Amino acid sequence: MNNNSKTNSLSGFYKLNRADRLERLRHFCGLDDSSIKLLSSDSPLKFELSNLFVENAIGQFSLPLGLVTNVHLNSKEYCVPFAVEESSVIAASSNAAKWIKASGGFSGMVAGNEMIGQIQLLDLVAGSMEDVRQIILNEKTRLLKIANDVHPRLTQRGGGARDIVFRPFPNAATPFAVVHVHIDTCEAMGANLVNTVCEELAPHIQALTGARIGLKILSNYATERLFKVQCKVDPKLLAERGQDNGAEVAAKICEATDFANSDPHRAATHNKGVMNGVDPVLIATGNDWRANEAGIHAYACKQGSYGSLSAWQMDEDGWLIGEIEAPMQIGTVGGITRLHPMAQKSLDILGRPSSNELAQIALSTGLASNLAALRALVTTGIQAGHMKLHAKNLALSAGALGHHIEEVASEMVRNNKVSQTEAERLVKTLNCSCLSAENGEDLPSTETPKPHSAQKNIANDGDDGHIQSQ
Ligand code: HMG
Repeated sequence: MNNNSKTNSLSGFYKLNRADRLERLRHFCGLDDSSIKLLSSDSPLKFELSNLFVENAIGQFSLPLGLVTNVHLNSKEYCVPFAVEESSVIAASSNAAKWIKASGGFSGMVAGNEMIGQIQLLDLVAGSMEDVRQIILNEKTRLLKIANDVHPRLTQRGGGARDIVFRPFPNAATPFAVVHVHIDTCEAMGANLVNTVCEELAPHIQALTGARIGLKILSNYATERLFKVQCKVDPKLLAERGQDNGAEVAAKICEATDFANSDPHRAATHNKGVMNGVDPVLIATGNDWRANEAGIHAYACKQGSYGSLSAWQMDEDGWLIGEIEAPMQIGTVGGITRLHPMAQKSLDILGRPSSNELAQIALSTGLASNLAALRALVTTGIQAGHMKLHAKNLALSAGALGHHIEEVASEMVRNNKVSQTEAERLVKTLNCSCLSAENGEDLPSTETPKPHSAQKNIANDGDDGHIQSQ
């Protein structure tokens, strides 16, 4: 499964039915029959596994798994599994990834690969902070050895504790200090590994300093595990259909970034657009998206106030230059990543990337998602593209069934009137009595749509995302 040799054979992927998509994927990624069978299965996670993963398990909550196409990163071609519930997210990311690919692709780099563990020291007198710092730093080599003895196999794999840092907080209500341990956790996300090291080191630090030990836990603000992805975009590709306004669109995208950097109310939405492309990769590969959300949003405050995660500016040739830098706490081994069958398939589809590579892939699709949304916002507005793809959901929840879902959705898009009310009106006027006869039940009332009664009689036949009545 070598991603290097891939040619882009996934253009128009969304126009295929499920079987043809899987066939294309088989060729693109070299998947075997058992992988295709698992991907075709509608319930790949057995209850026995769910019951091991979480407490009080009663069932499963499924999300659609789709593929973002056109992702060209560091000269490799990927199609990227997205586990996500929202319409237009996958289309948007694929769309912008296509412009970026045509402009040379993403380039990514690892700026740091260490998790941070924190050991809090309390009952220190403010004046003694410097003495305590000296004690810790004088003992750094011994403390690092103790940390590395906790996980000898990690050191054998090339990872391990790398540094110890002392951080005083003399002005806190109760003055305290924190000892940071920086640990390269290799392919693991590393939470358990780091926490064990912190707990192991704590009594040694206590003995050295006489401090009372407080919390011993990793920091999800993983500022030493940083990744950067950049791209450039030919402004011609950003032009609106039939217009020659690419440079203007690119300039407006830069203005939009300035808006996000100046106003946290905008920044949160701007960054939601970035996370549209990050979280679905983390979920699809069984990674802890909550840890990453926490760390990434904290990083968006690194200048002192909450701002944009991405930077968009123009170079001297008028090309749009995009960049994102963020902490990513990602694993490709251990935990759910190893145990969840779909996480394993997602890693297969990605060509079994290293954790560093996976972090850069997720940031690339994050940057692409952000660009697609900004390009829509500064041109036609978000609703045109988003609602076009959301129209089928509205038709379904208005009570349309079978081929009427597509009919109602297309009619709304054609009339540029995509709304729940319009879907309900169309369901009514489409004389859906034929449907109630087909399905042996009344149509849901248009005043109070009853999606449950509609859903009772539907099943996803996997055909281009259409839902057919049984
Ligand atoms: P379009 O120009 O009609 O697309 O865009 P196209 O038909 O020219 O196709 C171009 C490429 O887009 C295709 O290439 C596909 O890669 C992809 P091809 O495969 O043909 O070589 N594509 C699709 N992929 C899968 N399924 C599809 C599909 N259609 C196109 N059905 C599009 C249409 C929706 C992509 C565009 O309008 C768009 O990118 N809009 C942005 C939508 C968006 O951002 N949605 C996220 C939800 S809104 C949100 O949560 C965030 C926000 O609040 C953030 C913020 O405020 O910053 C907006």
